[in-house]
Amino acid sequence: VNNIVNKGGTILKSARSSEFKTLEGRKKAHENLVKAGVDALVVIGGDGTFTGGLLFSTEFNFPIMGIPGTIDNDLAYTDYTIGFDTTQNTIIDAIGKIRDTSSSHERVNIIEVMGRHCGDLALYAGLAGGAETVIVPEVDFKVEDVCNKLKTTQKRGKRHSIIVLAEGVGNAQDLGKEIIKETGADLRVTVLGHVQRGGSPTAFDRILASRMGVRAVELLLDGKAARVVGIRDNKIIDMDIHEALSMTKEFDKDTYEMVKILSI
Ligand code: F6P
Repeated sequence: VNNIVNKGGTILKSARSSEFKTLEGRKKAHENLVKAGVDALVVIGGDGTFTGGLLFSTEFNFPIMGIPGTIDNDLAYTDYTIGFDTTQNTIIDAIGKIRDTSSSHERVNIIEVMGRHCGDLALYAGLAGGAETVIVPEVDFKVEDVCNKLKTTQKRGKRHSIIVLAEGVGNAQDLGKEIIKETGADLRVTVLGHVQRGGSPTAFDRILASRMGVRAVELLLDGKAARVVGIRDNKIIDMDIHEALSMTKEFDKDTYEMVKILSI
């Protein structure tokens, strides 16, 4: 890990692989690991990575450890995944920049953020970025309510309105068209896209990754395998990988309600 603490991405070039989904592909992976003298694997990713890792570990009796690495923060067993904090910071930087012209020109801006089926990025970056409205897949919404909110915030003298939309909800352009039709607002849409997927990690992510990495290696040296490392209440934890995969993530409704109160 020399000289990589400041880097995003992966120096190993590991990525989603369709070949690995076949037994032949996994055999090849196993042969390569044996050839390279690798005796255990720490897999960094989300549900898909852990499921693939577990299958591989069972088929070839190969020890694995899982570390949660995804910007989506969509894993139930851990409070945070590596990358989430960095991405939130990228998003709030973008919101701040967009707000400047939004305010000058009294506009409505929809900012679509990543997260797959999880609304955490939209929720927390929306809160930190002072968004007027946050729309997430976990909570049903009506365009009518969004429009009414726009009208009331405008009446209260707000010169701009920022709507943060999670990609899992649907298309930002379509939502924009509906809002324009209802309110006649001067509206712009920004899809942040892959700018959210890179850049130098924040201090929080660097520390989190370091703490989790150390725990994963310690566990392997201790002869443990098929576990995942996470963080709960600022304590590094580890648990059985099957158990972690069976858990369902709970949406943070309290924070969602708080965003509504703060953005009146
Ligand atoms: O899971 C991480 C993520 O960035 C999602 O938020 C997003 O939907 C997806 O990956 C994008 O994947 P790709 O880089 O393959 O387009």
